[in-house]
Amino acid sequence: MQSRSRLEQRDSLAFVDSLPVRHEGDRFRLLSGDSLELLERMPAASVDLVFADPPYNLSNGGTTCQAGRRVSVNKGAWDASLGLAEDHGFHRRWLAACRRVLKPSGTIWVSGTQHVIFSLGFAMQELGYHLLNTVTWFKPNASPNLACRFFTHSTELVIWAAPARGKQLLHTFNYPQMKAQNGGKQMRDMWPLSDDGGGVLWDLAAPGKREKALGRHPTQKPIALLDRIIAASSNPGDLVLDPFNGSGTTGVVAVGRGRRYVGIDLDPTYLDLTERRIAATRA
Ligand SMILES: C[S@@+](CC[C@H](N)C(=O)[O-])C[C@H]1O[C@@H](n2cnc3c(N)ncnc32)[C@H](O)[C@@H]1O
Repeated sequence: MQSRSRLEQRDSLAFVDSLPVRHEGDRFRLLSGDSLELLERMPAASVDLVFADPPYNLSNGGTTCQAGRRVSVNKGAWDASLGLAEDHGFHRRWLAACRRVLKPSGTIWVSGTQHVIFSLGFAMQELGYHLLNTVTWFKPNASPNLACRFFTHSTELVIWAAPARGKQLLHTFNYPQMKAQNGGKQMRDMWPLSDDGGGVLWDLAAPGKREKALGRHPTQKPIALLDRIIAASSNPGDLVLDPFNGSGTTGVVAVGRGRRYVGIDLDPTYLDLTERRIAATRA
């Protein structure tokens, strides 16, 4: 059994308290600022799990379809493209910063659509990450496309990787738990065809109204997606980091599952939303 002081040490997040903390709790800190700068100020090899949902670089004046209507795709200044080379440079920089703070036994999950995922995957290969899986997240309720010139986009990819290539795999993978959740069969990196609810594993709808009751974020991830990721690749007490916190879905699940959490976002109003969401899960 772990001693009390060891448990307290594992629960402590004091090492980020010199950074601009906007909200804090016994198991979480929400940091306000630019990830590139703040990650540099965190200790090396301190994080067990990173989930990152970076800018899609998609908000460049285009339109999309929502609830049958043509709407602007602009999600915010943070999502504008600076051109292919500059966008790739940005992804390389934050991925390198995450690699530095990851423990050798840690892993990172990086989500994106076709607009950004190839740059992300290439940057990860350039930096020496060990790619473990590319999970396909299928969105059964995806919006139809208005142009009718190509297939309807209904998937998002999530790359899972360890910080370094090595003969020995050091990372956490709660294989038995995942297999049990999949009715005793190995869990795959794609949705199974079962439609009985319990067996539909990566077949996760976009977040419903209930998850947006406390406020909205234009690219909010569903709780179910983060729940699977955090359950699969971390243990209670582990430190989970999200450098693009947004509405804080990662934090809500991490804290709810007994992990510690550090989230970073440029926009403090999203950190305020996160704090409300975490508080609501604990009420
Ligand atoms: C795609 S959204 C993340 C959404 C999140 N996964 C959720 O479930 O709500 C990206 C977020 O990253 C933030 N962001 C963009 N660039 C950033 C940077 N350099 N440092 C910190 N946050 C940044 C944006 O403000 C935005 O909230």
